[in-house]
Amino acid sequence: MTRKNIRFPLSIEQSRPGHTGFSLPSKTIGAVNEIPENLRRKSTPGLPELSELQVVRHFTNLSTANYSIDSGMYPLGSCTMKYNPRINEKTASNPKFLNIHPRTPDKFAQGCMSLMYELQMCLKEISGFEQISLQPAAGAQGEYVGIRMIRAYHDLKGNHKKTKILIPESAHGTNCATAVMCGYQVVPVKANERGILSLETIKEHCAAGDIAGIMITNPNTVGLFEEDIVKIAKHLHEVDALVYCDGANLNAKLGLTRPGDAGVDVMHFNLHKTFTTPHGGGGPGCGAVGVSARLQPHLPTPILLKKSDGSFEWDTNRPSSIGSIKDYNGHFLMMVRALTYIRELGPEGIRKISRDAILLANYVRVRLGEAYHVAFERPCMHEVVLSDKKQKGHGVKTIDIAKRLIDLGIHPPTIYFPLIVDGAIMIEPTETESLEEVENFCLKMLQIAAEAEESDAFAKYFAGAPKTTPTTRINETKAARDLVLSWKEL
Ligand SMILES: Cc1ncc(COP(=O)(O)O)c(C=O)c1O
Repeated sequence: MTRKNIRFPLSIEQSRPGHTGFSLPSKTIGAVNEIPENLRRKSTPGLPELSELQVVRHFTNLSTANYSIDSGMYPLGSCTMKYNPRINEKTASNPKFLNIHPRTPDKFAQGCMSLMYELQMCLKEISGFEQISLQPAAGAQGEYVGIRMIRAYHDLKGNHKKTKILIPESAHGTNCATAVMCGYQVVPVKANERGILSLETIKEHCAAGDIAGIMITNPNTVGLFEEDIVKIAKHLHEVDALVYCDGANLNAKLGLTRPGDAGVDVMHFNLHKTFTTPHGGGGPGCGAVGVSARLQPHLPTPILLKKSDGSFEWDTNRPSSIGSIKDYNGHFLMMVRALTYIRELGPEGIRKISRDAILLANYVRVRLGEAYHVAFERPCMHEVVLSDKKQKGHGVKTIDIAKRLIDLGIHPPTIYFPLIVDGAIMIEPTETESLEEVENFCLKMLQIAAEAEESDAFAKYFAGAPKTTPTTRINETKAARDLVLSWKEL
């Protein structure tokens, strides 16, 4: 899908005096005039004056300028941009779920509480943890809750010398931010030549007795399974340190292996990545956490319990809890969507998610493995990391490949992350894409690799790309650091 290289005029630029989308009956105008003089505006608010048709066209045109998962493949590694099935939206828009007030007394909210309880049970079964809290609003908040609980565990035991957290160098930035926010010092851990953590390195780091825990992403952010996770967890427990697992990549393990069984003490789920609730834009999310028995007492309060008569209640009597971290027990409609997805697929369907995600990522790895440098030459999990090593010699870098992809109608993969791979191109096809879509993506990537070898390739294809979008190549650093979102009349 290529979008036209046109600039949409802003609504304020289309404004003409007297254009309006409604006409108020004179009775209403009379009512407006009854507003006391001191409360009335002294001047007009300067809103654009547009007809209804202009407004409809304006927003419809703007929406076509957006690339979205509904318009094409979105192979952003680590972000897991899956299709959000419409059945989830249908269930979440049931007025009985939609209109319930968050302060509804428990006796009138038993249906919603039973849904939350069932989701907790499903997540428990999928992950192997003792207990679940659905409170956190996003993956990053789930991480924060997890490390706060690890801190509460050590504080209760008087382990005041444990001031450091081990974090692999390939980790997502939120891991380090979380550890620091919880008062820990970050100790970066290098991966071995196979791209994973080695037990020996972990042992060396733990020798001084000041390690409170480790934050592991598994599969890690280069798409490789941490094969020594069981041994690493065992060693950490031997030195009274705990294991946090970043669950952002859980979509590679569903029904295949359970972090709780591997010795992990706490993990956040990204319901939006693994269980197809909507993504991004800062909207409501759910970063549920699962814990082992060690951390159960520290879970956020309240905890949802099922009583012997089958009814549900919120348990607030939890003296060792880290407290409440999200108002109204989290974002309920995200839970409705996630449970719909889990119930729709059932155990076999859930397992198939990960199998298909892994298969497609390996398809990409093999299909592009000659034209591009593959960071780690071995089977991957649900994502694969390539780099621009072979193209750089022709003057074509990762950023140029990504921008050229846009001109060929495809959203680029994640680039320059993880930081440990120079010029990284991180591709996650996800299981919701068909083989045909993934092959189409591969063909475009192969076309770009071939173009990069042509003489004068940079000037021909890459300089200034993307060229087919409303905004062409921008200075991304300036755009991120010097954000100006106000409009000024020229
Ligand atoms: C590996 C990893 N961990 C944590 C997060 C944070 O999750 P969220 O965006 O839900 O806060 C992300 C998000 O991209 C991630 O990729």
